[in-house]
Amino acid sequence: MRIACLAVAAMGSNAAAQSEEPDAPFALPETIQGEADQDLEVAPFERLDVLGGCIYFLDGRPKYCTHKGIGGFFLDKDKAPWQAQLSTNIPASEYRATTLRKYPLWELNHLCGGSLIAPNWILTAAHCIKRDEMRRYGLTVRLGVGDLSTPEGVAFRIDRAVVHQDYDPKTKLNDIALVRFVDERPNKRPLRELGIEPIALHGSLPEGPRLKPEEELITMGWGVTSVGPDGRNSKYLLGFQLNRMPNEFCAQALKAPERVNASVICAIGPGRDACQGDSGGPLNTKVYHFDSRRVIAVQVGIVSWGKGCATPGVPGVYTRVSAHLGWIRRAMAAPETVTTLR
Ligand code: ARG
Repeated sequence: MRIACLAVAAMGSNAAAQSEEPDAPFALPETIQGEADQDLEVAPFERLDVLGGCIYFLDGRPKYCTHKGIGGFFLDKDKAPWQAQLSTNIPASEYRATTLRKYPLWELNHLCGGSLIAPNWILTAAHCIKRDEMRRYGLTVRLGVGDLSTPEGVAFRIDRAVVHQDYDPKTKLNDIALVRFVDERPNKRPLRELGIEPIALHGSLPEGPRLKPEEELITMGWGVTSVGPDGRNSKYLLGFQLNRMPNEFCAQALKAPERVNASVICAIGPGRDACQGDSGGPLNTKVYHFDSRRVIAVQVGIVSWGKGCATPGVPGVYTRVSAHLGWIRRAMAAPETVTTLR
């Protein structure tokens, strides 16, 4: 069942702010434009109760409902032209026969999601970068792929990874990294002709968009579709429609105030969530602008962590892109030898 869920929201001014020139590589502006990442005022609250999968406010209003399951929808790769897969290249011979009988090689080697943000640069999460495997087997980025079990799309070798120096595996703060890939194809056919396009970053457009407290957002990836030992990766790209949850609520819902600051953004949906294997992938606004050649969306977050997946009342946490625009710009401009950057 294929559901065309990526409704086109009429956001004239934001859409118009996109580059009109189809051949211009996506460029980050010189300065971080203000306000795009600021919270709007949210209603004050004193207590959050989780009951029947919903968070109840003092006035009895149920909000931010979640149900069991990690329900997504099939997302056509043409609707996510920036979506990238990161994998290792461990050969089948390194896995046990029993493991190979249970899992296909693509699933064993799958690491994370990512997004194309500029020519040759993929934005992902810091916790996705496995330096040992990178050294031993190499890392690969695949673009233009929907079904991971097929050879569709185009795969590139990653030659560099820049990880945020302040990434803290305990709090998961600063969970951001950039990887660069090398295009060794003899024909160098433009990626756009293969349906691959970069995504715009939130905060890099002068108009915002300014996020509403419960802004409709979409995350996507090939992560596992159930929690626990039987969880298996989806071979098809799945999308998850979520609503943003303001940070104050998020910190309470997660009972982790020290892990929820202005550098993260949270999102929750009824029975919908990112899960293991979706990390590094984008969290986008539903502000899509289609014209005859391209789909434009705005990336606001990077899949980072959660407590289980789609746990009732518990949001997913995403690295906030607009809080790291300066880091992204500096990482892309840094000398070749730089592997961590503050
Ligand atoms: N850390 C996970 C990964 O490496 C992603 C977790 C996202 N979890 C969530 N419940 N939103 O793939």
